[in-house]
Amino acid sequence: PFEAAIFDLDGVIVDTAKFHYRAWKRLAGELGFAFSERENEQLKGVSRMESLDLLLRAGGITDLTAEQKEDLASRKNEWYKELLETLTPDDVLPGVRSFLGRLHSRGIRTAIASASKNAPLILEKVNIRPLFDVVVDGNSTARAKPDPEVFLQAARLLTAEPAACIVFEDAAAGVEGAVRAGMRVVGIGDRELLARAHLTVTSFEQLEPVYLLSHIGIAGY
Ligand code: BG6
Ligand code: MG
Repeated sequence: PFEAAIFDLDGVIVDTAKFHYRAWKRLAGELGFAFSERENEQLKGVSRMESLDLLLRAGGITDLTAEQKEDLASRKNEWYKELLETLTPDDVLPGVRSFLGRLHSRGIRTAIASASKNAPLILEKVNIRPLFDVVVDGNSTARAKPDPEVFLQAARLLTAEPAACIVFEDAAAGVEGAVRAGMRVVGIGDRELLARAHLTVTSFEQLEPVYLLSHIGIAGY
């Protein structure tokens, strides 16, 4: 039986994935190269410094010191945080609040499992922290997705076995991490990019918890 639902934050609860992309694209521009939305897909779910490494590789930049990289990552984060300042409770993605409410009414426990160090700020800006029992984010984990750590930590805090958890993810790295954690995964977004997910939907508006909970465990669904 399913006991817990674990949600990625960026791109699942709030559409901050587009802000990350805008900030990385701006950094690429300043470094003199273009950075496409397609290339940006592999940065999703990945930690800030690993994202920077992927970006620099895409731009063919290989000769930076650790200090220069720290500087670039914090510039990106400043631009990103300027974009976060515009967030309001209306930026919670469609269907999310009602989906969480329906889970709670069935006794399902809920967590955030995010790679972001900005997660507490985002949750506060959109005023959704009270709808989660537990938050695990980039401030309390050492290894980034696709490592399963963030998901396992969330399950432990929710006192749920991994097999009793469903994860909601928009990033390929996150889907992979959740699969490695031994959990069922619902991909939010493009079915081809999230091919490892057990089920893919484009929005929470399409998801009815009763249906989901009774169907996703069935092999071959
Ligand atoms: C993830 C995002 O949630 O958090 C990544 O999908 C991001 O794109 C990562 O790099 C780290 O976020 P932050 O806010 O700590 O830079
Ligand atoms: Mg995400």
